[in-house]
Amino acid sequence: MLTSENPSSTLSAGDTSEAKKTGADRKMDVSRYDEQARGVNAPIYAYYAEKIKQATAITSGVCLDVGCGGGYLGLALARITDLNFIFMDRSAAMLERADRHIIEDGLQGRARTLPGDVHRIPLEDSAVNLVISRGSIPFWKDPQIALKEIYRVLAPEGRVYVGGGRGTPAMQEQIAADLKARGIAPPKDRPNREGPPRRMMKRDYNEILQKTGIPFFSVIKGDDGMWIQMCK
Ligand SMILES: C[S@@+](CC[C@H](N)C(=O)[O-])C[C@H]1O[C@@H](n2cnc3c(N)ncnc32)[C@H](O)[C@@H]1O
Repeated sequence: MLTSENPSSTLSAGDTSEAKKTGADRKMDVSRYDEQARGVNAPIYAYYAEKIKQATAITSGVCLDVGCGGGYLGLALARITDLNFIFMDRSAAMLERADRHIIEDGLQGRARTLPGDVHRIPLEDSAVNLVISRGSIPFWKDPQIALKEIYRVLAPEGRVYVGGGRGTPAMQEQIAADLKARGIAPPKDRPNREGPPRRMMKRDYNEILQKTGIPFFSVIKGDDGMWIQMCK
């Protein structure tokens, strides 16, 4: 399920940056992904932003959105908190979108983008108060290293909320109907979609987290996805 909306196939004609030629970006239809994330899929981000706010109660300080894509989750959280944001992704084409959306949403004073890989986050220890991520974890080659990196950059009293999902079953149905009405196949029905290798979807995140030595964590699999929480 986490793979169901992975940006797939080819880059759109609109993405003209040199960065599009990197391996990370080559498989992504950034334009289509971005349009749907800001359009038909927007309720998904608002839903998780509200959940994150309720679960973490962190509404000020610095939030790092890992594998942010065009920044959709962080941007939704910015609307309901006073947090400042660092939007990090390894894809330059996605960060280009995030930069645009920061301006569109009037968040220049509160947000910046950061090229980076979750396995080696280019931030100091204890630099952020909240780490969020949606839909990126299945692509992390070594989640044990990645989760330890996330924990390293987390400040004391900080919280982490990372995972993936497409909202509640009712939301998924509504979005599939909206897509169908526009003649677009829902993600799960698209042929030849790219996704992370199957082995990544079968990961036992409880076991992985135990190996990290991180003392406080939980893994919750529900009808709105799989989410990991950690605190320091
Ligand atoms: C399915 S998209 C999710 C984008 C966005 N978070 C969302 O919820 O729509 C996965 C994103 O993770 C990024 N990503 C994958 N592996 C990464 C890594 N090792 N470090 C940083 N970003 C990564 C990809 O470039 C892509 O933008």
